[in-house]
Amino acid sequence: MAPFLRMQGITKRFPGVVANRDVDLEVDRGEIRGLLGENGAGKSTLVKILYGLFHPDEGTIEIDGKPVRIRSPRHAVDLGIGMVHQHFMLVPTMTVAENVALGLRENHSPFSRLPAVARRVRELSQRYGLDVDPDDLVEDLSVGLQQRVEILKLLYRGAELLVLDEPTAVLTPQEWHELAQTLRDLADHGKAVIFISHKLDEQLEASDWCTVLRDGAVVGTVHTDDVDKADLARMMVGRDVVLRVARESLPPGEPVIEVSSLRLESKDGRTVLDDVSFEIREREILGVAGIDGNGQRELVEVIAGVHQPSSGTIRVCGRDEPRLTPQRFHRHGGAIIPEDRHRTGVALDLTITDNLMLKDFRRLPFARRGITAVSPIREHCEHLVAEFDVRTPGTSVIMRQLSGGNQQRSVVARELCGEPTLLIAAQPTRGLDVGAMEFVYDRLLDHRKRGGATLLVSTELDEILSLSDRIAVIVGGRFVRILDPDDADDETLGLLMGGAEIAPG
Ligand SMILES: Nc1ncnc2c1ncn2[C@@H]1O[C@H](COP(=O)(O)OP(=O)(O)OP(=O)(O)O)[C@@H](O)[C@H]1O
Ligand SMILES: [Mg+2]
Repeated sequence: MAPFLRMQGITKRFPGVVANRDVDLEVDRGEIRGLLGENGAGKSTLVKILYGLFHPDEGTIEIDGKPVRIRSPRHAVDLGIGMVHQHFMLVPTMTVAENVALGLRENHSPFSRLPAVARRVRELSQRYGLDVDPDDLVEDLSVGLQQRVEILKLLYRGAELLVLDEPTAVLTPQEWHELAQTLRDLADHGKAVIFISHKLDEQLEASDWCTVLRDGAVVGTVHTDDVDKADLARMMVGRDVVLRVARESLPPGEPVIEVSSLRLESKDGRTVLDDVSFEIREREILGVAGIDGNGQRELVEVIAGVHQPSSGTIRVCGRDEPRLTPQRFHRHGGAIIPEDRHRTGVALDLTITDNLMLKDFRRLPFARRGITAVSPIREHCEHLVAEFDVRTPGTSVIMRQLSGGNQQRSVVARELCGEPTLLIAAQPTRGLDVGAMEFVYDRLLDHRKRGGATLLVSTELDEILSLSDRIAVIVGGRFVRILDPDDADDETLGLLMGGAEIAPG
């Protein structure tokens, strides 16, 4: 019998890049297929072809043994192909059932059929163990549950193959295990699943088979029972990857930032940051561990001068800063790798050069008496692209055309190249492949060695544990504990992050 999906000889070219080269991929019902590969290897392109967003230049696609030409996402849905997007496409103020009904085609007024939709949603939710109530408002749901609503939407529309492109960046570890279980339940019920993730643990836990791409071509397909993390890393990068970092002990220097009793209230009077105090000295990395949404974003924005705190004081390099602004933060030698690169990190419609120069285009040697100096800019950008290994045909390419991980690499390049005194690194390796992750860790440690201070905000406990000199656990906008990394492990941090009361010591 033919597999559900058979892609053969798929080639897709963009100007200056072959994103997919002669790719063969077969995925059968009941199977979870992992896709793995470096940033820019062609994973997203391949699944976008499947979803009708791009057309291949060469190659054929068969669904259930029948050749198809997938014209559009709508056509893909008709063929039983569903895609869970990284940014959810849900209307927060509507219920689950209303969201599922939205955009249904078979009737003119889907809402008149809401009770029927709700019934079917409840049925599907039960069959696949999704535990979603059709009458709940989407805005009241956790991120993990919202993702399940996205999956329900696909199941409702008859998806036989579900494609998830980096679905786990926004999930807590608990939510990830639940998603892995959901994927398994889907496969057990005969669905096919394609799962893209850079996290090797996740591939080993969730996928049955893993197909590795490099430079657009398939390097190989392995059964996840037969390999370990090091094998997968070697297949994707073509060399051994050191997955552990060696942080040498360095004596801390002068305080770079001193924060005391910081409070921030939201417009509706909620306390978002509550009595936060800390200092970071030269050659120190303060790691902030916490579940997403516990005030990390607001803390970063206050330190970077985007928001004024409601009360509390901030001293930078020994001087009081009663009104910190982004300009003053920058002038003090502050740099920031923001968490949400699409909102604040990059300008998607500008070129790579424009993005790399965003902060520096007015200063020497890039501008002289207000006139832009073209060749220093070109040399600087070409140097950064090479050093930070941004995979692109050239620096005049529009940012939107880079793969997700390569956009992140550009942000890291721009923020680290000026040798900042204070670096805020928020989820600095989100979306990066293991090779790039290793590189960013090295650069953060370089920055530390040069005397820089770092505020590292991350939901990845491994990252926090291996890089930090001290670890602050944030819960509900409060630092509930500041620990020495030697006294911390996954489990302690996990418990503290979840709000457990653990006696210090
Ligand atoms: N619309 C586009 N126009 C031009 N080039 C593109 C476009 N989309 C993707 N590319 C290029 O195709 C290549 C593959 O990109 P793709 O997004 O498929 O990589 P990826 O494996 O998903 O990487 P990542 O892990 O960073 O998400 C990259 O070199 C990228 O720059
Ligand atoms: Mg991608």
